[in-house]
Amino acid sequence: MRFEGEVVVVTGAGSGIGRVIAQRFAGEGAKVAVVDWLPDRADAVAAEISAAGATALSVHADVSSRQQVDAMVARVASELGPIDVLVNNAAIADGDDVLQMDEATWDRDLAVVLKSVFLCCKGVLPSMIERGSGAIVNISSVNALTALGNEAYSAAKAGMINLTQGIAVRYGAHGIRCNAIAPGTVRTPIWQARIDRDPAVFQRLVKWYPLGRVGEPDDIANATMFLASDQASWITGAVLPVDGGLLAGNYRMTRELLAEAGNEKLDS
Ligand SMILES: NC(=O)c1ccc[n+]([C@@H]2O[C@H](COP(=O)([O-])OP(=O)(O)OC[C@H]3O[C@@H](n4cnc5c(N)ncnc54)[C@H](O)[C@@H]3O)[C@@H](O)[C@H]2O)c1
Repeated sequence: MRFEGEVVVVTGAGSGIGRVIAQRFAGEGAKVAVVDWLPDRADAVAAEISAAGATALSVHADVSSRQQVDAMVARVASELGPIDVLVNNAAIADGDDVLQMDEATWDRDLAVVLKSVFLCCKGVLPSMIERGSGAIVNISSVNALTALGNEAYSAAKAGMINLTQGIAVRYGAHGIRCNAIAPGTVRTPIWQARIDRDPAVFQRLVKWYPLGRVGEPDDIANATMFLASDQASWITGAVLPVDGGLLAGNYRMTRELLAEAGNEKLDS
């Protein structure tokens, strides 16, 4: 039980990766605030956790709203206690090609993906500083590190990485650690619209993944819990790709380049 009695806030915990992260922390003894702007989702996940015998608090909040984040942090502190771990996981990804994206879409993506991290960190840091400890894990994306489309989302995810480093450096002396995870493709409902258009999308994407599969929410939960735990007590400001090897390189392209250079063995 790595998180016995600790208070953990997971944003966007009503679905996908956030839901599994919330469940897994609860399974290791944490009291979990399940934060989502869709009330039914937050309530359902909190109910699942409570039914499994752990403590969960459903909090309905839009994490891009300063007022709602402040109210969320105050409610968690008063009902569960001071916050030990913050997982910034909520996101949307609406904006794509710059030429086709309107300003409102850009602003909304940036607000939900990046401003939310600023607001939630601003909310939890004072009490972490006061107690001299705390861990923040920001769920970024491989999109932060290379061009993969969804330009507004990707730019915001890249900004999240620098914010992670800034917080790590500024508050390390207060015993606070802040790290980021860059997931590759993970099988969650965020993909539903794309699956509706292309039911075989995951099978097609697998070819880019050296480990031969797309990710599951548990893959991201494993890394999140490691970074939040004492096992990572000397890790801060880091960005951990959890991506089945995607960012390590493009194997197909490498094979073609090596084949062009006359290495027939690799072109078998
Ligand atoms: N699934 C992937 O392939 C993948 C890949 C890389 C990174 N990620 C990142 O992982 C995280 C989780 O993604 P997911 O696939 O589980 O998505 P998801 O859509 O299944 O879940 C996201 C949840 O966040 C909530 N949410 C969205 N905006 C919110 C807001 N303003 N306030 C509060 N809640 C809000 C949604 O209601 C939803 O319940 C995101 O940060 C995403 O960018 C996902």
